[in-house]
Amino acid sequence: MPKRVAIFISGSGSNMVKLIKAMQSGLIDAIPVIVISNSKTATGIQKALELQVTPIVISNEPFNGDRTSFETAIHNILIQHKVDIICLAGFMRILTHSFIKKWNNKILNIHPSLLPKYKGLKTHQRALNAGDSHGGCSVHIVTSELDDGPILGQKAVAILPNDTSKDLSARVLIEEHHLYQKVLAKFVKDCD
Ligand code: GRF
Repeated sequence: MPKRVAIFISGSGSNMVKLIKAMQSGLIDAIPVIVISNSKTATGIQKALELQVTPIVISNEPFNGDRTSFETAIHNILIQHKVDIICLAGFMRILTHSFIKKWNNKILNIHPSLLPKYKGLKTHQRALNAGDSHGGCSVHIVTSELDDGPILGQKAVAILPNDTSKDLSARVLIEEHHLYQKVLAKFVKDCD
């Protein structure tokens, strides 16, 4: 049975679009069942609709910092939709240990650095500031430690002279799109 995938977003959802298209075209043997956004203004919501995948907004705001209730709302939606795997794709909330435990080894994340370097934010600027020869991206299994967990795939991207963080981020994003598809395709096969 193809695995049922939920994609979590907070923003533009370009990784989400690539993952959905790869599943819909059979490149990944899985079904994109829902997109969950914690932000009602995420532009990825409209893109999910255009790709005929139901977007569900669960805004964290009304929960006023009550992460457990916010995540319970998400968890219930995932159960209702019989989700097997969660792909975080630019989801800007940190999940609690308790949620991650419920979805142990079933949550993937894409991070725009060559982990374990540059966990957290502003990854490209930090790579530039350090004088690194390469930036890059990583897909990993989500564990309770931020941007940690077993790395399933990485792609290095050369830093060019005079690169700004915007330049580097644009080139890395293209590689993220390829990497995430490739890793998810293997991950769903290995789940069987
Ligand atoms: C990507 O750079 C991803 O690595 C990071 O957030 C960004 C999301 O971009 N976690 P998009 O929403 O997929 O375009």
